[in-house]
Amino acid sequence: MRKKLAAGNWKMNGTSNAMTEVTDLAARFPESNVDILICPPATALSQLSGILEQSPIATGGQDCHVALSGAHTGDISAEMLKDVGAGYVILGHSERRDSYNEVSETVRAKARTAISAGLTAIVCLGESHVQREANNTLDIIGGQLAGSVPDGATGANLVVAYEPVWAIGTGLVPSLEQIAEVHAFIRTRLIRRFGEVTGIDIRILYGGSVKAANATGIFAVADVDGALVGGASLKADDFAGIINALQQA
Ligand code: 13P
Repeated sequence: MRKKLAAGNWKMNGTSNAMTEVTDLAARFPESNVDILICPPATALSQLSGILEQSPIATGGQDCHVALSGAHTGDISAEMLKDVGAGYVILGHSERRDSYNEVSETVRAKARTAISAGLTAIVCLGESHVQREANNTLDIIGGQLAGSVPDGATGANLVVAYEPVWAIGTGLVPSLEQIAEVHAFIRTRLIRRFGEVTGIDIRILYGGSVKAANATGIFAVADVDGALVGGASLKADDFAGIINALQQA
């Protein structure tokens, strides 16, 4: 049975002031029947991992380099993330695909490196508004999935996150039918590529304007194994509402 996952992506938010939110969240979840993850900026990982040492809440990075070390000014490696307590890393987020022209081949190479360093890669996929309007959603998702996920993926080292670009930070959410269609499609493709056992084991998160108010509906959709949450993961109150919804799903 897949263990559900509530993952927070802080993006470029979170200075030392944000640590009180983490302490607050940890106090609310001394134990949990779902996995909980916070991916702060790399600068906050060490401190956050320290605060969460006795907590079931895991930490993760938001990106890593294809290489494990070397002359790459400004970059962060998977090994460095692991070294400061991270268990996961988000890869191929649409904001990075857009801002840094990250293509699926790059995401796949990063995922391979992250997995080799002992991290679980959270590989993000998502169609733009134009692509959905043109009825290209499943083609786009299929292409990104095939291109971004490395061979050798398992339920332990890979999580897929479906994040429609037009739903990120906009307050817009696809209909539950649209979410169900894409998640079922991803599941079918994972089974086709990795076989029945592994394909069923890999978790698929939904991301894009998830809030406590809409979480229960989204978590009831088949093959939604949790959420990748942006804005609503920054405040303990908001994120706790989503975690509670997932625990009850
Ligand atoms: P929001 O929850 O702010 O829409 O962001 C979603 C996201 O991009 C998570 O990675």
